Amino acid sequence: MSDAVRQWIAAAKHLVVLTGAGMSAESGVPTFRDALAGLWAKFSPEELATEQAFRADPQRVWDWYVSRREAVAAVQPNAGHAALAAFQSRHSGRFALITQNVDGLHQRAGSVHTIALHGALSEDRWLDSARACCTADSIEPGRPPRCSVCGNLRRPSVVWFGEQLPAPELGAAEDAAQHCDLMLVVGTSGVVYPAAGLVLSAHQHNARVVMINPEPTELDRVADACLRQPAAVCLPSLLRA
Ligand code: APR
Repeated sequence: MSDAVRQWIAAAKHLVVLTGAGMSAESGVPTFRDALAGLWAKFSPEELATEQAFRADPQRVWDWYVSRREAVAAVQPNAGHAALAAFQSRHSGRFALITQNVDGLHQRAGSVHTIALHGALSEDRWLDSARACCTADSIEPGRPPRCSVCGNLRRPSVVWFGEQLPAPELGAAEDAAQHCDLMLVVGTSGVVYPAAGLVLSAHQHNARVVMINPEPTELDRVADACLRQPAAVCLPSLLRA
């Protein structure tokens, strides 16, 4: 089946790749629906990755994100990230990368113009609408940092459960999904929308869909091929041309 997929990739006029947490698993970054590691094992992402959880206990949520930032800073992009960046450099006119991941590993591997649907773990923003006093100079260190004048908190610049995805990124992703003729879906369980809906949209617009995941997913039902392989093994082999 991999040979057929290689031929599809060679022939594709517009190739879109959509990645999820499994893309970073071989870099040592736990996927979302793996058990939360260590200190956080007693929480679920849904209990931490929401605005309500942050407002209820800013320090606990802030500390969780700091621990994730430190974990991601300590790992490296894997061969799958590198293969995607190298392929893009050879085929930039017919390639788009959409990611649900906030770990920044695609960008660190050299991918450019990555459509980051769920934001960036490495960035912060104001929790409430910034007032005139809320500037970079007014940020007071803390867990979390806050505005030294009005007390507005800083929060991770990621999309929390229940929040809207950034409209520019979502629009670009929907456009790419609707106009591609091949979509590789790598390392996602396909249970979170609207990201998972991009796969259905590609399928409905007559694109071929290829799942790259060691496990079955919710989206296999619309796939033309399911490659039961890890991303860091499969992508270098598929994208070598
Ligand atoms: N290669 C490819 N896929 C892998 C690998 C690997 N080495 N290891 C695990 N996987 C697969 C798992 O089988 C699973 O299907 O990666 C998928 C990870 O699924 P989730 O943990 O649900 O992560 P994801 O699909 O990215 O979650 C989507 O949900 O929690 C929210 O915002 C968060 O972006 C996240 C979104």
